[in-house]
Amino acid sequence: MRQSRRKAPRPTTVLRREVLTITVPVALAALLAAAGPASAGTGGAPGAGDPYFPLAGNGGYHVEHYGLTLRYDPTSRHLDGTAVLTARATQHLTRFDLDLNGLKVTGLTVDHVKADHRRDGQELVVTPRRALHKGEEFRVTVTYSGTPKPVTDPDGSLDGWIPTDDGAFVAGEPQGAMTWFPANNHPKDKSSYDITVTVPVGHSAVSNGVLVGQRTAQGRTTFHWRQREPMAAYLATATVGKFKVEQYTTRDGIRVYNAVDPREASEAAPVLKKLPSVLEWESKLFGPYPFRAAGSIVDHAPDVGYALETQSRPLYDSAPDLSTLVHENAHQWFGDSVSLTSWKDIWLNEGFATYAEWLYSEQHGGDSAQKTFDALYARPASDDLWAFPPGDPGSGENIFGTPVYARGAMALHELRTAVGDRTFFDILRAWAGEHRYGHGTTAQFVRLAERQSGKNLDRLFTTWLYAPGKPNNP
Ligand code: ARG
Ligand code: ZN
Repeated sequence: MRQSRRKAPRPTTVLRREVLTITVPVALAALLAAAGPASAGTGGAPGAGDPYFPLAGNGGYHVEHYGLTLRYDPTSRHLDGTAVLTARATQHLTRFDLDLNGLKVTGLTVDHVKADHRRDGQELVVTPRRALHKGEEFRVTVTYSGTPKPVTDPDGSLDGWIPTDDGAFVAGEPQGAMTWFPANNHPKDKSSYDITVTVPVGHSAVSNGVLVGQRTAQGRTTFHWRQREPMAAYLATATVGKFKVEQYTTRDGIRVYNAVDPREASEAAPVLKKLPSVLEWESKLFGPYPFRAAGSIVDHAPDVGYALETQSRPLYDSAPDLSTLVHENAHQWFGDSVSLTSWKDIWLNEGFATYAEWLYSEQHGGDSAQKTFDALYARPASDDLWAFPPGDPGSGENIFGTPVYARGAMALHELRTAVGDRTFFDILRAWAGEHRYGHGTTAQFVRLAERQSGKNLDRLFTTWLYAPGKPNNP
């Protein structure tokens, strides 16, 4: 769970009062979102309506494409950026927000005309010269610069642009995309990306998708990456370091790009070698691999403490073990191709990726999923595992807690036991297939499981996803 396996997972505390303290901004965001054309503002909402992260994302438009052009100096830690967002208004807009945390905005245009803008915390509020009408496509160009700073998440972990001794570890879940580019920063909005990064020669900048160009001039190397399949902002990366690079194409035509910090290389090599066979195994189980590119970024970032399923190319803070590689690549189906609409549903990502680890072990001579389930179930009622139900973590502080990963996987194992292997694997494939490149909610998953199995699964899901405390008699 990618709070690296080597370290003890961070303790998860359950602070019920968090639930109360978030209701005010939520109500506010909802109110603003509801403010229709008749009210004073026809501004887009400052948030996407997520109860755990009320200011994440924005309302009123959809970003179709991000074109990011960056230049980073690992020594001074200075970033210069230009972001060109091609977006479409989903309502009449006299004003809209982007998310951007820190950095200095040095210029902003909408359709090539200078636009008024102001900063308000993580909101970059833009008032274009003329209103945008519903359905209209528009282009926002933001130039910015400064020293990016990561955000500290509610669980105390760092996320966003995290400097390292030779570059930066760039991981945005759940909030950090806004530390390095202006974004509609919620997984509800997915877009294609072109990410171009210039770094001093000897460094590499590794991002998502396919490397479409690389050139060195005047002591600097520019890397141009293209992610065509829709991607949530938190899955974007532009990780910089002195990497050893390896490129090849798999039998299935997937373009693999591995970038490895030399300090992690000998430990990483035997695990990375298994990537093609892991992707083939996962494709058999979950359906075709969703992206044209794949790979790994193995950084040496000892202070980070987790890995991330950055789209098409997971990012590791150190050499991963095999089950971490299986986990992050399972996310390519569950989390990346099929995205959340709300952070509360995080078990749809983490429970599935964890269950993939159990299945891999079962089918490769290790413990059966049943045995893993039993060992977890044996934990006493006082254990952290039962601190909160995975379908309702209660706040952003808990979204990467043990119950989300382990009890989330237990819920899937209970489903498998109830419907049988054949139906269970049909359900997983149907989930990945029907929601490919889109979104899915817990309610939709439950409905799909009931449809495929012809069973009423209400009690099973209520028990494993929503009931507080340790369920009895599985
Ligand atoms: N999704 C990642 C994984 O389990 C974990 C990310 C944790 N992020 C954080 N800010 N704590 O694979
Ligand atoms: Zn995960």
